Amino acid sequence: GTESTMLKRNPKFSTLNDDDIRYFKELLGEKNVVQDEDALAAVNTDWMHKYRGSSKLMLQPRNANEVSLILKYCNSRCLAVVPQGGNTGLVGGSVPVFDEVIVSLGAMNNIISFDKVSGILVCEAGCILESLVNFLDQQGFIMPLDLGAKGSCQIGGNVSTNAGGLRLLLYGSLHGNVLGLETVLATGDVLDMLGTLRKDNTGYDLKHLFIGSEGSLGIVTKVSILTPPKLPSVNVAFLACHDYSSCQKLLFEAKLKLGEILSAFEFLDEQAMDLALNHLEGVRNPLPPSLHNFYVLIETTGSHETYDKEKLEAFLVYSMELGLISDGVVAQDLQQASSVWRIREGIPEALMKAGAVYKYDLSIPVEKMYDLVDEMRNRLGSSARVVGYGHLGDGNLHLNISCPQYDDKVFTQIEPFVYEWTSKNRGSISAEHGVGLMKAEKIFYSKSPGAVQLMASIKNLLDPNGILNPYKVLPRSS
Ligand code: FAD
Ligand code: MLT
Ligand code: ZN
Repeated sequence: GTESTMLKRNPKFSTLNDDDIRYFKELLGEKNVVQDEDALAAVNTDWMHKYRGSSKLMLQPRNANEVSLILKYCNSRCLAVVPQGGNTGLVGGSVPVFDEVIVSLGAMNNIISFDKVSGILVCEAGCILESLVNFLDQQGFIMPLDLGAKGSCQIGGNVSTNAGGLRLLLYGSLHGNVLGLETVLATGDVLDMLGTLRKDNTGYDLKHLFIGSEGSLGIVTKVSILTPPKLPSVNVAFLACHDYSSCQKLLFEAKLKLGEILSAFEFLDEQAMDLALNHLEGVRNPLPPSLHNFYVLIETTGSHETYDKEKLEAFLVYSMELGLISDGVVAQDLQQASSVWRIREGIPEALMKAGAVYKYDLSIPVEKMYDLVDEMRNRLGSSARVVGYGHLGDGNLHLNISCPQYDDKVFTQIEPFVYEWTSKNRGSISAEHGVGLMKAEKIFYSKSPGAVQLMASIKNLLDPNGILNPYKVLPRSS
């Protein structure tokens, strides 16, 4: 990738030797010390196949104590470490840049407790999101977050990236839903912040430092999270809008008219739909063929089947009368609902199949959001495909530029323009994916020098040797 080629390995970090390997094998057992080339190739490469490290070692601890001893050792030897969850991150944060030791959390996947009265789940960081969803389903509960990567991402990775996803509109961010964490600091100290209380104002709420810190301040080993009950009435509508301004008005009306049952408001443009139809198996447009420029997926979640359905239908009739939607369908059963969701959730995969992709994840005031997509299209002409989709209900645009292969000519047309535009409009250059390696040098577009300086001081306090996920999140100059 363009970002990593400019970086040099920090010479203060040691290189692995035979004594290190011997120590880790004694600590973890042979099979949890992975040196196999094929296995390492996979964990050195990110989901997009855009970032590639050259680590010679992956460690698979089974509990917080092993994580603690690993970090204590690495800190004393000044060996750099990358914490890795499901490796679905999209900003190059989850893979080594050079030869950092990969600490993989996948073996720590036990559910510790679930309290049906409070809905509080406590589990290890390596639990895969979808297995938590399945566990909770049997208890009549759901996870407060949902994302397309649920089959492989881990709750520890979700917390470490402060993942947003498809349900944030109703359930809010992980800063609200995570009630406690256990983390291991770079020194090996285990920090117990594993509260299970809704309310606890005893001083600084330190867990928030680790939510969204992308493995740069500590390794998350346990998570306590508030889960909502599974409500019986979920409805999904897939709608077509003629222009972006209609999508925006539709969002305003949906908040007003659907109120407390609105659980998702996602949008995609025609180019995104095209990719989904061309690259995803079994995906078809549920709306009759016609020229639609935008699609909106609306989901409602509530407790009363007839009441919720009526509410949604009345809203659709009203929106049709206002001329905000040109067509639409309401899923009639679970299977139809999931095939509509598949279109939206499948876009990242479709983009991958279409070739190389430049991915931007931006918070932009809703009324300005699509101007950026239009402007980018004008800049790039026919040299690349510009695709817009995302969590419109949260003001989060996913701007993706798809080309047959990575191309420096295209890249210089995109950056720094995209960051300058976002900054000028007081947006965020990372809405939900994080900073990782991709945006470490770009952080000033969204954060003041004072804020970045304080971040660097906190990093230095918690990880004085800088062994945790080096080259990521913070700019080199800090
Ligand atoms: P990884 O990719 O392994 O790691 C991500 C970062 O967290 C790295 O910096 C890593 O060092 C750190 N990390 C991982 N585990 C730990 C731990 N236990 N302790 C400390 N640090 C750790 N993101 C969204 O926000 N919303 C979406 O809707 C969304 N949809 C996606 C859809 C697809 C198809 C894909 C591929 C990705 C999507 N993502 C989305 C991005 C990604 O899935 C999330 O960022 C996810 O939370 C990462 O979890 P992971 O376990 O894969 O973490
Ligand atoms: C999504 O909303 O689909 C994810 O954040 C992944 C992406 O941006 O491609
Ligand atoms: Zn997203």
